[in-house]
Amino acid sequence: IPAEHIRNFSIIAHVDHGKSTLADSLQLTGTINKHHSHNQVLDKLTVERERGITIKAQTCSMFYKYNDKQYLLNLIDTPGHVDFNYEVSRSLAACQGTILLVDAAQGLQAQTVANFWLAYNQELSIIPVVNKIDLPAADTERVTKQIQSTFELDTANIALISAKTGLNVEKILPNVIEKIPHPTGDVNEPLKALLFDSWYDTYVGVVCLMAIVNGKLQKGDKIVSAYSGQKYEIADIGIMHPEQVPTGYLHAGQVGYVICNMKVATEAHIGDTFYHFKSPVDPLPGFEPAKPMVFAGIFPIDTNEFTKLDESIAKLTLNDASVSVQKETSIALGQGWRIGFLGTLHMDVFQQRLEEEYDANVIITQPTVPYKIIYRDGTSKLIRNPSEFPEPNEMSHKIVELHEPMSRRGEQSEYNYLDETRVIMRYSMPLAEIVTDFHDALKSRSSGYASFDYEDMGYQQSDIVKMNVLINKKPVDALSAILHRSQVSSVGKEWTKKLSEVIPKQLYEVVIQTAVGGKVVARETLVTQVI
Ligand code: GTP
Repeated sequence: IPAEHIRNFSIIAHVDHGKSTLADSLQLTGTINKHHSHNQVLDKLTVERERGITIKAQTCSMFYKYNDKQYLLNLIDTPGHVDFNYEVSRSLAACQGTILLVDAAQGLQAQTVANFWLAYNQELSIIPVVNKIDLPAADTERVTKQIQSTFELDTANIALISAKTGLNVEKILPNVIEKIPHPTGDVNEPLKALLFDSWYDTYVGVVCLMAIVNGKLQKGDKIVSAYSGQKYEIADIGIMHPEQVPTGYLHAGQVGYVICNMKVATEAHIGDTFYHFKSPVDPLPGFEPAKPMVFAGIFPIDTNEFTKLDESIAKLTLNDASVSVQKETSIALGQGWRIGFLGTLHMDVFQQRLEEEYDANVIITQPTVPYKIIYRDGTSKLIRNPSEFPEPNEMSHKIVELHEPMSRRGEQSEYNYLDETRVIMRYSMPLAEIVTDFHDALKSRSSGYASFDYEDMGYQQSDIVKMNVLINKKPVDALSAILHRSQVSSVGKEWTKKLSEVIPKQLYEVVIQTAVGGKVVARETLVTQVI
């Protein structure tokens, strides 16, 4: 199939606006494997299904006849949650266009806006589509207006569909062919391939999804990662249809799977460029190594389960290159791990999979973001564990500043009405604020109406301190936390109170304190039970 008859596109949407349902529905028109028809083939993992969210992006190729010509349409699925913005941006880098899917009852939400900008900044053709028009609460007119006024997209012939019932879905693929440009790579140029997704397969090792930007990639070829310099040999290559179908090669403009001798998921860097080992090329722009931003300690409840849990964590991380794992020892909780995640949802899913798929019983400590210590000599160090944070008396003349990571959307704070019923607000705020109960608080205060998306904006100086929890004057390492100084008093009081409620009464007096350095912030005393 010539490049003129190829389209590489994705669907972007807010969580639950129907991305997976539409992908399935489109596949019915475009793939041959009919037995897949009624389950959501693109959303494979069970946890994903249970939680209704797409964690791993998965891709499929469809053959589609239009105006008597055969087209190859590659649907590149994108992860559906705020923690995976970087992965979304790399999936979009493999496309020339995207379908912006909006729920007719809910209208524009935070991720609709965030994803729109990701696609817009990559100069993709954007086709707006309104979904769920079968719902009684659907207000297609209002939602179409929102799309028109917020994104300045042409909504004159906008497709109004129900991905669930299939109504008007047949209008979408012709639109994709007409409105999205074909890929423009040159098959005679040296190979340049973008890795945009990967997973671990027990039998063949790491399976990569790649978009061939230029050149040709065949079985037996030797390729090199522009990021790591590592060399690999192609063992199998083909398209996702929707399962792996070997083709022996992929040409410029095509998208497919590549199996080479990659042993562990961490070798597959999302956004990496590959080239033939004899003809190096400049890497594609936009690459960033995985950067975990939320760290928590994980410990077995029963210390006898350490080995089993160690194996389970190793297996889970085989499939997730964005998780970082380090052994950690706590005086209070014994041996465990400090695990880094992209965000709190990523962490929740990891914990859920450990518990459900591996039957693990674990204690997870309060999540923390990486803080930065700047030394007087100009060097710096990232702290991912409160136990490594300096006590006030250790804040030697060597340390000049403490910095914490900030998150934001957009350049400046903004307060803008999208229409009479919807407002968009942008803030810069410490990332630490959103790893606690920010999501829940936002949902409850807005009665479920507000939605949220965030973006990393680097580090900023901050007045942060380490708060210790002392039981009978002894610090409990696993309970220490890094806080902004202004929060110490309220959090300190809250924690001592909570602990006094959960610690069982003893035959002796138990003193629970929170303290910064030698200074006690709050105190509760559990008095002796008199029988
Ligand atoms: P993520 O995977 O989290 O990104 O969600 P998603 O956008 O893929 O949403 P999904 O396709 O899982 O749909 C979310 C819910 O909306 C499911 O319960 C679907 O059955 C439902 N849904 C999707 N499309 C329609 C539709 O056209 N009409 C109605 N009534 N429900 C729909």
